[in-house]
Amino acid sequence: MASETRTDIAGAGAHAGKAVTIGCWLARKRSSGKIQFLQLRDGTGFIQGVLAKDEAAPDVWEAAGKLTQESSLYVTGVVREEPRSPSGFEIAVTGIDILQIAKDYPITPKEHGVDFLMDHRHLWLRAPRQRAILRIRAEIIAAVQRFFDERGFTRVDPPILTPSAAEGTTNLFHTKYFDEDAYLTQSGQLYMEAAAMALGKVYSFGPTFRAEKSKTRRHLIEFWMIEPEMAFVEHEESLRVEEQFVSYVVAQVLERCRPELATLGRDVAALERVKPPFPRISYDEAIGLLKEAGMELPWGEDFGAPHETAIAEKFDRPVFITRYPTAIKAFYMKPDPERPEVVLCADLIAPEGYGEIIGGSQRIDDPGLLEARFAEHTLPKEAYEWYLDLRRYGSVPHSGFGLGLERTVAWICGLDHVRETIPFPRMLYRLYP
Ligand code: 4AD
Repeated sequence: MASETRTDIAGAGAHAGKAVTIGCWLARKRSSGKIQFLQLRDGTGFIQGVLAKDEAAPDVWEAAGKLTQESSLYVTGVVREEPRSPSGFEIAVTGIDILQIAKDYPITPKEHGVDFLMDHRHLWLRAPRQRAILRIRAEIIAAVQRFFDERGFTRVDPPILTPSAAEGTTNLFHTKYFDEDAYLTQSGQLYMEAAAMALGKVYSFGPTFRAEKSKTRRHLIEFWMIEPEMAFVEHEESLRVEEQFVSYVVAQVLERCRPELATLGRDVAALERVKPPFPRISYDEAIGLLKEAGMELPWGEDFGAPHETAIAEKFDRPVFITRYPTAIKAFYMKPDPERPEVVLCADLIAPEGYGEIIGGSQRIDDPGLLEARFAEHTLPKEAYEWYLDLRRYGSVPHSGFGLGLERTVAWICGLDHVRETIPFPRMLYRLYP
């Protein structure tokens, strides 16, 4: 085969009128008997290869005929404009160099059940829809980092193996650390508080683990969190950072991922409304809204997914629910000085029923109050001595929050389950592949 210009599918348009060679897989094939249409993919995009029987060399025509779904090849041909193609181009095939003829590919164009697809996740990733989701996930991660990097935050990486709980003791993943007990981190927050006292404004981005026996559309066992922490920042200011942050991420996806959003059929008008300020309602007001909607809940109960959805329906953009009852929230949250039965916290609920994407709060800065909380939550004080030190040596007001990446991807992509938001989901009873 002549040594033509090597390119990828995304870059093919720059070579219109010229011959190129592309390493690719066959996604689909159609033939009229006289013309073969090869739907080719290489990860950067899709392009159609076209061969006419009366023009193609017989060996090239024959090679095209042999290609099965997911066979790998180098294709050579002339790039030409084709307005009907999604990329605007197609390739007039003049050469095919087969790398491998794939055996019966398990994921065919017919409908497959979720369990079958999950068992073949390693192959399912190749589908256009999965590719679009992973591209958007990567763009969200990049936007998150840009947002904080450009605003003077320093990225800090908290440990994954920890000696104690950050978010309650009921869903800890236990492991041995030589002779000691250890847990996979539920949240980097406590370490990020230490980092904020050293660097002022910090954020982490990493995996977190919760051994939650919940089989819902929103729960993963292993999920990724972005956790900013800010010294000298109180509750209200933290909410302003959160709404700016979420709006920025959505705007960046809208700017950079239009084709992927189109592949997913996402209603972009709903995303375009995501602009600050976001409405804020108190827990008390939320209880009132639920009552109006016929979902009465006693004061002091936590909200479940149906409650969050009912509240979100009242708003056209994400909504903060603030000041939850102290008794149902984490030990480190600062009580409202004017009303200690509620804490200075907020959950951010995504619109359209996608649920809570952020949990955040101002942190307790008084060492005596924090010690009292350990006792109430029956947490062993010895394990948190270092965390108390942060209040003993130059304690300052500080706040932070955690954004769940997968729930955010589910919302932005418009997916009804988090299982497709992460390359290899870890869910209740699913560890393979
Ligand atoms: O509300 P959470 O539990 O907050 C914390 O962990 C705080 N320490 C964060 C902080 O202030 N630094 O979790 C934060 C977010 C949730 O809003 C949700 O988006 C996501 O993490 N999340 C999950 N995502 C998928 N699967 C699960 N099991 C999740 N649990 C929480």
